[in-house]
Amino acid sequence: MKAKSVILTGGAGYIGSHIAVLLIEAGYEITIIDDFSNSSPLVLDRIEKITGTKPRLIEQDLSAPDCVGSICSALAGRDYAGGIHLAGLKAVGESVDQPGRYYRVNLGATLNLLSVMEKLKCKTIVFSSSATVYGELNASPVDESGKTGPTNPYGFSKLFNEQILSDYAAANAGFQVINLRYFNPVGAHPSGLIGEDPKGIPNNLFPYIAQVAVGRRAALNVFGDDYETIDGTGVRDYIHVMDLAEGHLAALRFGLSGNWDGVECFNLGCGRGYSVLEVVNAFAAASGQKVPVKVVGRRAGDIAEIVANAARAEKLLGWKTQKDLNQMCADHWHWQEKNPDGFG
Ligand code: UFG
Repeated sequence: MKAKSVILTGGAGYIGSHIAVLLIEAGYEITIIDDFSNSSPLVLDRIEKITGTKPRLIEQDLSAPDCVGSICSALAGRDYAGGIHLAGLKAVGESVDQPGRYYRVNLGATLNLLSVMEKLKCKTIVFSSSATVYGELNASPVDESGKTGPTNPYGFSKLFNEQILSDYAAANAGFQVINLRYFNPVGAHPSGLIGEDPKGIPNNLFPYIAQVAVGRRAALNVFGDDYETIDGTGVRDYIHVMDLAEGHLAALRFGLSGNWDGVECFNLGCGRGYSVLEVVNAFAAASGQKVPVKVVGRRAGDIAEIVANAARAEKLLGWKTQKDLNQMCADHWHWQEKNPDGFG
């Protein structure tokens, strides 16, 4: 049987590269669209090392005006079964300082991809959304019917993209949209060949802890210990990036094998929360390294707790997480120890 072709935007990034590996291993033929603005070309060699296949690449800023024609030409000659769309900017704080750029890039990329997909008659899109669309309006665990109310432009760009996709599906019979609302992706491929490599000072907890453990930073700043949580520090639903990547494959299959059109939305999380201090202790145990902490003030925009109800994904996609916090820490550390400076 001919391999199904899939467009993967943002496929050189942290999450995208793990999805790329699983797609290739599952027999899909993939084309990555990425401009390496927050990733390294080396990732493609690493994907090849893991899978034996180097993915096809279109090096392109997907949000650039007038890029649709050249992307369509580069994609010509194949039937594309679906698009998995991750390309976009993702730093919450930066989005507050540069809202125009965040809306231009994150919405522009989606609109351009929709034009490409329309021209190629590709009717299934899996979109990288985020738990951040829920803001702080819901008690945890939150399910997909939770109220939406992001607290920053990055979060709004995710929600607006969901709206654009929903309107597009309503206007185009046969079009399938699957929005995946990620909770907190962490960990790395078990090979230690790909993983998260943030540029500059990490915004997120796991990469920061990993850099402390490997000796690149002195101590973790714990942003507040006076929340109403088990130990006063923020509680999140961490999900192993391999489980998250499996969720994309399950979502794609759900689209391609299902006789439906319209919009489906799924939380991808474990359904269990851990505090910052619980994560620190688990990481120290898994790595055998010391992780000094310093409690500082709360970070603006943070919420006390958010945990997923991921029952819908289990019921309809047949997907649930397999890897626990220890595995997340062990794999994140394996990647960091093997690549102390990331992709260099
Ligand atoms: N934290 C610290 N110190 C740090 C970094 C984080 O104490 O140096 C704490 C935060 O206060 C929070 C927890 O660790 O309690 C997790 O913080 P992250 O920055 O890792 O993750 P967030 O939950 O704030 O945000 C992440 C992504 C967003 C996404 C959101 C979805 O960064 O893109 O999850 O819930 F939208």
